[in-house]
Amino acid sequence: MQKVIIAIDGPAASGKSSTARLLAQRLGYVYLDTGAMYRACALQAQREGLSLEDVDAIATMMDSINLRMDFAQEQNRVFLDDEDVSQLIRSESISKMSSAISALTPVRLKMVELQRRIAHAGGFILDGRDIGSYVFPDARIKFFLTADVDARAQRRLLELQAKGIAASFEDVRADLLQRDKNDRNRTLAPLVQADDAILIDTTLLTLEGQVDLLYQHVQKILGGL
Ligand code: DC
Repeated sequence: MQKVIIAIDGPAASGKSSTARLLAQRLGYVYLDTGAMYRACALQAQREGLSLEDVDAIATMMDSINLRMDFAQEQNRVFLDDEDVSQLIRSESISKMSSAISALTPVRLKMVELQRRIAHAGGFILDGRDIGSYVFPDARIKFFLTADVDARAQRRLLELQAKGIAASFEDVRADLLQRDKNDRNRTLAPLVQADDAILIDTTLLTLEGQVDLLYQHVQKILGGL
């Protein structure tokens, strides 16, 4: 079967990354976590002590940032220079900062260029906010995942608890809503469902159910069924 580009977009904690990873495994595709790239930019800015208001300083940082994605293992690994920062970028402070930094033009332009360079030949599943609408508007298959905000907050809370991080349901829910608002309202490449994306509401689906559903769509579209 031909290897195409599959875009999976949607708001935070809608189940995109787990679904994309498992679907990629099942199809023999490579998974590219584009959110991890913005998270790594946020970490770099935090380490350099830069204010996100100072767009010139962020632009200079983006000129010299040495960000590399590694696909050798199932999980994407992200490197800044030679340091594996894959775990460090998962903190709540970086989640918030990544949403803010991803709205800045020099950051988006560089990351989008890198994403296009990595995945243009096909055989990639990318998850993000703007993959089907902006990065690869001609992607052969596009999904848009949504879920009720309470379900998303509950999932994120369980993830945090599993990592031993204490948080309240209300705080997690408020952070998700704030991040969605930022991501939907930025000027350049906001979070939006592409006209030709298949909408999947994951509120009542298990992870396995989600992956099955997307897999069936892919098989149907690519003629495998
Ligand atoms: O998917 P995530 O939660 O790891 O993404 C972190 C932030 O990065 C998210 O709040 C918005 C931004 N992002 C983006 O603007 N465009 C993408 N394609 C992926 C993520």
